[in-house]
Amino acid sequence: MLTLAAQLEEIITQAMERALGLQGGEALLTVTKDEKHGDYQCNAAMGLAKKLQQNPRQIAQKLQEAVLTLERERLEKGEGALIADCQIAGPGFINLTLTPAALRRGVELIAPQQHLERPQKVIVDYSCPNIAKQMHVGHLRSTIIGDAICRLLGYLGHEVQRDNHVGDWGTQFGLLCAWIMDRGSGSVADSDLSDLEALYRQSQALAQEDERFRERARARVVALHQGDPATLAVWRQIVDKSLDHIYQVYAQLGVLLTREDVVGESFYNPLLPQVVADLEERFPQGNRPMEVVENQGAMCIFMYDPQGEPLFKTPEGGPLPFIIRKSDGAYLYATTDLACLRRRTQDLRAQWVIYTTDARQSLHFRMLFTSAAMAGWTEGVKLEHVPFGSVLGEDNKPLKTRSGENVHLADLLAEAIKLARQNVQVEGRDFSAEEIEAIAQAVGIGAIKYADLSQNRLSDYVFSFEKMLAMEGNTAPYLLYAYARIRSILRKAGQEEFTGVELPLDDPAERRLVLQLARFNETLLQVVDGWRLNLLCDYLYRLSGLFMKFYENCTVLNAQPEQVRRARLALCAQTARVLKLGLGLLGIKTVERM
Ligand code: ARG
Repeated sequence: MLTLAAQLEEIITQAMERALGLQGGEALLTVTKDEKHGDYQCNAAMGLAKKLQQNPRQIAQKLQEAVLTLERERLEKGEGALIADCQIAGPGFINLTLTPAALRRGVELIAPQQHLERPQKVIVDYSCPNIAKQMHVGHLRSTIIGDAICRLLGYLGHEVQRDNHVGDWGTQFGLLCAWIMDRGSGSVADSDLSDLEALYRQSQALAQEDERFRERARARVVALHQGDPATLAVWRQIVDKSLDHIYQVYAQLGVLLTREDVVGESFYNPLLPQVVADLEERFPQGNRPMEVVENQGAMCIFMYDPQGEPLFKTPEGGPLPFIIRKSDGAYLYATTDLACLRRRTQDLRAQWVIYTTDARQSLHFRMLFTSAAMAGWTEGVKLEHVPFGSVLGEDNKPLKTRSGENVHLADLLAEAIKLARQNVQVEGRDFSAEEIEAIAQAVGIGAIKYADLSQNRLSDYVFSFEKMLAMEGNTAPYLLYAYARIRSILRKAGQEEFTGVELPLDDPAERRLVLQLARFNETLLQVVDGWRLNLLCDYLYRLSGLFMKFYENCTVLNAQPEQVRRARLALCAQTARVLKLGLGLLGIKTVERM
């Protein structure tokens, strides 16, 4: 993806080669904090001064001269002006100001969809609730973050495969199957999921007090895992029911996941014995850097560094096992994930695999990635765990209902939509009932998503309807309102397309807005690097703020002469387009009026 920053970096690298004889030097380019110092600054001179044992200002001067020469050469070759000004400041910062032509070109680089020469096949593992329970707030972040990741990757031109690795195989099914089969009905067809959840709670309670029921539930898990047809039939019904519910919540949330994306834990069950047997055979006791050994009846993977030290340690300092089979023969989460990763890389040929789960699973994924790499399954494959913090209540503890239970996601979404609807109606405008509904949906769901994505991903955050639905500040309603406002200006102007109209740059407010637009592509690259989705939120918030300033300072609809009016309207249209695009990449729908 082309960016202005990358073009500047290239010029600076060339300047280093010319002026200092350095190959492949790093430009260390940043956006200037104060616009008085230009648009971008190069911070390389200070580091180079140490390396070359020269005065940093002298180095900066040499680079400045070379940059200006290179810019002249560009012009002579007819390549279009890029740098209008290049100044040295402080100990050796090189401040760069872009030309009007470059700024306008930066905006033209924003495409509705990128096309990569070599798109990568990326599998994104996200949402993945443990089913047979209602979706609760703990599933929110993985679903929202993973979905934004899929949208961004798709936009950048990658081939994205979504993968919903639902927990459909755990002990909860033993309890449920035992309960249902004890009652002889053998069917869950008539119960809705809240029934199922009540069933689960009742069966749990019974298991607490009734040793024989516990025994039957355990036996049901074994029967299930061994493929007993009667148990499987009941299990299948429970799974289908749960998935119906889960996909209703997804529809409400507006995420990309489809039923076809479900590849649950159960899918890997038949593959598990072979995975363990292969590992056991190829990595016998004493093998380095990985060995698979039986330890108190359990099958364990141990991994070592080149010095022979265990790579993972228990708190006491002993080697930490990655357990792939328990002493009773049962397989674990780790075993399933090994089978799954092997399939994703070896059979599905993924070149990049991304897992979105809460930060408490970080150690699991480090052990998974390391063992899979040592097994030789992930050569040339990029593996990423994208962890996140928890959603907290106003009391700074994990969000629960008043009675201390997990908050059902469906209730949370409904509440957000209800509150958003009240906000819209209060304004008492001429909206149709349909329109109010669409606005309430967009604002309510958008607010929940945006409040999540605009946080530093690794931090916990406090869930607050009041904050996320506020019309002021870094919130979805503020951004959606900015968008709707621009759309209303364009409706009044009676024109939306401004192809060939040059964006205005005379007023400082215009120039700031155009510069911010021109930074869209490079912002996306920063976002993708480490999945810092909050940077895209910050970008859009700043964009909206700069638009509001522009609209305060510059007359648009009544601007004179016509040429200025058209240029300003074109700027409005571009801003709206980028806002919609950016929000869309976060999974947030815009509305035309609000
Ligand atoms: N079901 C798991 C949980 O709720 C998350 C699964 C994440 N994906 C994976 N391949 N392990 O914690």
